[in-house]
Amino acid sequence: MAKVKSKWVCQNCGYESAGYLGKCPECSSWGSFCEEVQSDLKPQNISPQGIVNDFKPELISDIKIGSEIRVSTNIFEFDRILGGGLVQGSIVLIAGDPGIGKSTILLQTSGQLAAQGQKILYVTAEESAGQLKLRADRLGVKENNIYIYPQTNLESIRAQIDELQPDTVVIDSIQAIYSQTVSSSAGSVSQIRECCNILMQIAKTKNITMLIIGHVTKDGNIAGPKILEHMVDVVVSFEGDKYKSYRMLRSMKNRFGNTSEVGIFEMGSNGLKEVKNPNELFLNERSQEAIPGTAIIVTNEGTRPLLVEIQALVGATPYPSPRRVANGVDFGRLLQILAVLEKRVGLNLSKQDVYVNVMGGIDVDEPSADLGIALAIATCARDVVVDSQTVIIGEIGLSGEIHPVNNIDKRLNEAVMSGFKKAIVPYANKDVIHNKIQIVPVKRLIDAISACISPQS
Ligand code: TYD
Ligand code: MG
Repeated sequence: MAKVKSKWVCQNCGYESAGYLGKCPECSSWGSFCEEVQSDLKPQNISPQGIVNDFKPELISDIKIGSEIRVSTNIFEFDRILGGGLVQGSIVLIAGDPGIGKSTILLQTSGQLAAQGQKILYVTAEESAGQLKLRADRLGVKENNIYIYPQTNLESIRAQIDELQPDTVVIDSIQAIYSQTVSSSAGSVSQIRECCNILMQIAKTKNITMLIIGHVTKDGNIAGPKILEHMVDVVVSFEGDKYKSYRMLRSMKNRFGNTSEVGIFEMGSNGLKEVKNPNELFLNERSQEAIPGTAIIVTNEGTRPLLVEIQALVGATPYPSPRRVANGVDFGRLLQILAVLEKRVGLNLSKQDVYVNVMGGIDVDEPSADLGIALAIATCARDVVVDSQTVIIGEIGLSGEIHPVNNIDKRLNEAVMSGFKKAIVPYANKDVIHNKIQIVPVKRLIDAISACISPQS
């Protein structure tokens, strides 16, 4: 008989202990320890000496590789972040907030894959088959070779995979399924780790593509052990503003392609639609007249430039210490820009409240947005405007110098396509040649302010 050992694992961070602990010494969470039972049964392909018999080292030059088979999802924006389609036999983790559209995109993807003749097993561990059918009708997914399987037990799921032999399996979601071999409840660190491990073995041995949905915690991280992200081939995060209809799919890890690509979608009454020209989405509510406190920047989302409007509001504060509010930009970054504006430009903001907002609800965390943020603040404070046909690109250093940015030509092309006539760019990027847009290179923040603002008419 196999001996059974037990250990206690923190469900928050994975810290292991021999006995129960009320407070985790690693992450300081209370009451997070669960008991895990381990069996010391040896895996079958291990010899009595503990040597795995399967593989031998091979010379790198002798290894033969077959070309990886990629299947297009027929959803261009999804293909883009996957690096050109789903690689057969790979594991893709899709993570995001509840209600963001994870089940929707995977049902739509299932429909597209089934239309190409693939057999799909959609394991719905959270919704009933009826609910899923209703949604499929709404999305116009009518293909016949999609099997819906409401199940939470991993061993049953495995049996069905063996019987059906599908090409693609969707697990909706990893936190809702459990394996009988682990005693803790579904969603616990050890369950997630074990279930993902088994799914990975199935994917690799049977060459089945696994699309796994994962929930995120309150602070936006993927729930469960970090090891989950290490195990899978691709991690895609689904982001967006609950109050806006657009959604962004971002690739965080991709063993078969580029990372930090983004795909942009709009949630409508018939599911997610691709957005071919995202700039229309982010700039369409913009007034054509220049307004003090607004500036258009060109940020880089993955390899794709996006034009985004930054708005600032500066006003005398009624409070003892002035307020600083940053929506969509990093708070620390805003404070740094304000300090540079005070020290290097002489703009006195010590008795002014400053609010900065990125329109469209997206987060801009690229340093190239600095100059646009600074100009939005400066124009509002001085009641002047940046010309509405001008885009602003540049990173600000602490002495007020403007640092160069990458992909300047791509950013300028995007600005030209959206009808902009002038670009304020860092001096070090001055050699970029563009005959469709006037380029104004600037060395210092103060030069940028005098180069692009004009008194309000
Ligand atoms: P869902 O895919 O269930 O989210 P998740 O699986 O990430 O929790 O998406 C649910 C939300 O999307 C829900 O609030 C309704 C909305 N929705 C639409 O607006 N249109 C649609 O066609 C569908 C299917 C959902
Ligand atoms: Mg769902």
